Amino acid sequence: MGLRILIVLAVLMGVTGINSVTVRPETASTDGSAHPNSVPEMAEETGKKEVAEVAEEDVMATGDLNPNHYPAQRAAKVVQHYLNTRYGSPYRLFGLQRVNSGNAEDVAESGRKYQLEISVEEIIGKTTQKCSAEVLFPRGERRHSAQVQAPCDELLKINTAAQEEDLYQQYKMNQILLSAQYLPDSHGHVEHDMRPLWHLGIVASSFIMLNESTEDTLFNMAQVANITQLATENDQIKFDSHVLLHELVSQEILHWKLQFTWSPAEGVKVLKMDQLPHCHDCEKPPNTN
Ligand SMILES: *[C@@H]1O[C@H](CO)[C@@H](O)[C@H](O)[C@H]1NC(C)=O
Ligand SMILES: *[C@@H]1O[C@H](CO)[C@@H](O)[C@H](O)[C@H]1NC(C)=O
Repeated sequence: MGLRILIVLAVLMGVTGINSVTVRPETASTDGSAHPNSVPEMAEETGKKEVAEVAEEDVMATGDLNPNHYPAQRAAKVVQHYLNTRYGSPYRLFGLQRVNSGNAEDVAESGRKYQLEISVEEIIGKTTQKCSAEVLFPRGERRHSAQVQAPCDELLKINTAAQEEDLYQQYKMNQILLSAQYLPDSHGHVEHDMRPLWHLGIVASSFIMLNESTEDTLFNMAQVANITQLATENDQIKFDSHVLLHELVSQEILHWKLQFTWSPAEGVKVLKMDQLPHCHDCEKPPNTN
């Protein structure tokens, strides 16, 4: 439910570019400790202020961090993407629930290291675990992705193997290759049959979000704009997809094209990821003259 609201908001903001999205009062708390799934609402209401605060904090929060502020939230969000890339599947999807505590320190030449105590949820099976995580944002000429350690083993205990195998066989036998658009639609709705496909799109997008994340970004999945199954060449099911990602710090919606494979044995593997040019112009009403 929280996830759905989050996605709808992200999509609304992206598609319409308006800032006056209706915020359900019950999902936004006033003490700054909003449920993490309500980050977009939080960002809507306090985004500008937080970004301004962050600009001052920027150079650079060290020592103990406020768990509700951006530096800790941004580092913790990277853990969510990391877990999805490692263990995500059509039936296993991770979400950051809360940052309980955190600190950051410079590590000599190599970068900045965040040590976090976080609560992570496996969203489909609804298991939550508190785990310790370490995120190192490397420093250097060439940008490297963050390095993450997060032993959240409790979350992997729900066995999804049988469901995955069923889905795999079903996808493999498809006479007409699958194809879907707008997961979720503008009402936040995803047809039941399309949910596994949606989850696959989210997991694949986590590879982008993990790779693109820095100390200054906070990525959320907005929408799988479309996803198409490709003819199978081997025992991997292959997809092309176009996804929209919401970067909360800049408030931008980013368009990416992705090609990836999935099988129960190999999990999700990204073959290609390409960012598409900014699309502000294509969202303007067609007749402006
Ligand atoms: C991750 O990002 C880096 C630099 O931004 C890029 O060179 C690299 O190819 C990306 N990785 C993948 C798998 O696309
Ligand atoms: C997928 O969605 C994007 C964004 O809405 C659109 O530009 C693109 O043409 C779509 N591609 C297909 C194959 O439907």
